[in-house]
Amino acid sequence: MKRSKTFAAVEGRERKGGEGGARANFHTPTVVILIFLLGFFIYEEERAVKFRARSFFSSSSSLPECGPDKNCLKLSLLVTPERTDNLAPLETPQPTEQEPQSRIAHHEEDVKTENRPPAVEECDIFNGEWVLDNLTRPLYEENECNLLSTQVTCLRNGRKDSLYQKWRWQPRDCSLPKFEAKLLLEKLRNKRLLYAGDSLNRNQWESMLCLVQSAVSPDRRSMKLSGSSLAIFHFTDYNATIEYYWAPFLVESNVDDPSNHSLLNRILMPESIVKHAQHWKGAHFLIFNTYTWWLNSKNTRVLRGSFDEGSMEYDEIERAAAYERVLRTWANWIDENVDPNQTAVFFNSMSPVHSRQEAAIVMSNDWNNPSGIKCYKETTPIMNVSAPLDVGTNRSMFVIAQSIASRMRVPVHFMNITTLSEYRKDAHTSLFSARRGKRLTQKEMANPAVYADCTHWCLPGLPDTWNELLYARIMSLR
Ligand SMILES: *[C@@H]1O[C@H](CO)[C@@H](O)[C@H](O)[C@H]1NC(C)=O
Ligand SMILES: *[C@@H]1O[C@H](CO)[C@@H](O)[C@H](O)[C@H]1NC(C)=O
Ligand SMILES: *[C@@H]1O[C@H](CO)[C@@H](O)[C@H](O)[C@H]1NC(C)=O
Ligand SMILES: *[C@@H]1O[C@H](CO)[C@@H](O)[C@H](O)[C@H]1NC(C)=O
Ligand SMILES: *[C@@H]1O[C@H](CO)[C@@H](O)[C@H](O)[C@H]1NC(C)=O
Ligand SMILES: *[C@@H]1O[C@H](CO)[C@@H](O)[C@H](O)[C@H]1NC(C)=O
Ligand SMILES: *[C@@H]1O[C@H](CO)[C@@H](O)[C@H](O)[C@H]1NC(C)=O
Repeated sequence: MKRSKTFAAVEGRERKGGEGGARANFHTPTVVILIFLLGFFIYEEERAVKFRARSFFSSSSSLPECGPDKNCLKLSLLVTPERTDNLAPLETPQPTEQEPQSRIAHHEEDVKTENRPPAVEECDIFNGEWVLDNLTRPLYEENECNLLSTQVTCLRNGRKDSLYQKWRWQPRDCSLPKFEAKLLLEKLRNKRLLYAGDSLNRNQWESMLCLVQSAVSPDRRSMKLSGSSLAIFHFTDYNATIEYYWAPFLVESNVDDPSNHSLLNRILMPESIVKHAQHWKGAHFLIFNTYTWWLNSKNTRVLRGSFDEGSMEYDEIERAAAYERVLRTWANWIDENVDPNQTAVFFNSMSPVHSRQEAAIVMSNDWNNPSGIKCYKETTPIMNVSAPLDVGTNRSMFVIAQSIASRMRVPVHFMNITTLSEYRKDAHTSLFSARRGKRLTQKEMANPAVYADCTHWCLPGLPDTWNELLYARIMSLR
């Protein structure tokens, strides 16, 4: 299945990546017909499956809610952080509300050393469950953040349900600190935080901007482009930046032009990273990802020679081998160019795609929504965290990334967001997305099998949680 994407950093415009979205541009009528037929077959297969499926909603009464035995009780503790000792001392101490509480927490810690939950930094924050929490979620309103690209403003794009905004990730063994924009900005004072990677990292970057921007007045923040691939959001009073760099494969490729990358014939230079990486040098927080762009073919095209020389000849090598070469190039660059005393490095594990397009996934019937097509019409997460889960994420790529990241000179925080995101079949932009900055037409909307975007995520939504997890890690750094 061919896929392609498009990107424009500042307007944040993108056609639906991942599945189908970009097809309209490329196909000959034959391709259209093939895709239509494929979509039709998938739909028919799903219909066949549905008769054996229990109605999803018949069990919806068992959704976790704020009840006496549920974690919502911890809400009060989150609002007044139970353990603020995970918040490292501010570099430039400022009188904030948290300060006195922080001292109290430290004091208490000396007294009761037993029976306390593990500190966030010792806790596996990626292991837990989704809890319905309409008191504290969403963390911002969609219409309060004008930095969101049309692609992710699902309500404005016509989505009727909004429950997807109201889930909070509750780690099993601890609680996440409340996201405090001002504390984060304090931590970022005179520093650069940079996301580098594909449109999922841009999704997370947009989320972060929305989480933080309301802490400063509009005239004390600004956005600018540096070259075509780097977007920089600047917080004047903090001399802090939150940046995004477009590099879908991290290394050099023929899809590195953010506004012209809709090429089906994707070619990489697995050993060439400096062209991109020079822009990452000196950043104090680096957050990387690369996954979705690898999915459209089993083999990866590797350039002979270099793009600069106009070369277009390539070899096809097995995807896993290419992924490993690329990540080794990335790891070597980090190890040689990053001072771990100055920079914290994060790697996001794969963001799952809920497209159920591969035969195995269509048949797996992981979720019982007979009227759903791909992620379309999914309005609740998968709630059973003990049931086996297979939405088709490529685990062998996960293992490659995790194993490389764990064996570097510079310690890398491997952000294990895959499983917790796999539960969120409800959180994708689906039909309430945009192509080239434009909402889908009625005709496109009538064809979810082709046009539902089950790769990107609505905002507010799941990427806010990724940022809360990142926040928890950043705030516990000394
Ligand atoms: C990632 O988190 C999931 C639970 O969310 C867990 O099952 C899995 O073992 C974790 N993987 C790693 C490598 O930490
Ligand atoms: C929040 O959820 C509870 C339980 O589902 C519900 O009773 C309540 O009406 C909801 N409140 C709002 C403001 O949506
Ligand atoms: C502002 O931040 C940059 C890093 O983004 C740093 O290099 C520079 O020294 C800072 N300026 C001041 C005045 O501290
Ligand atoms: C987009 O990139 C392709 C391949 O690099 C090139 O042939 C084409 O002319 C470019 N289109 C635009 C509008 O720049
Ligand atoms: C994951 O990717 C590897 C490497 O290309 C491939 O061999 C494997 O079949 C893929 N697994 C799944 C479940 O798609
Ligand atoms: C990092 O800091 C430690 C302790 O301050 C020091 O021993 C080490 O040499 C530093 N490493 C680098 C690469 O500067
Ligand atoms: C969750 O999944 C497990 C394992 O498949 C199953 O035994 C259990 O009954 C399920 N729980 C619910 C509430 O469906």
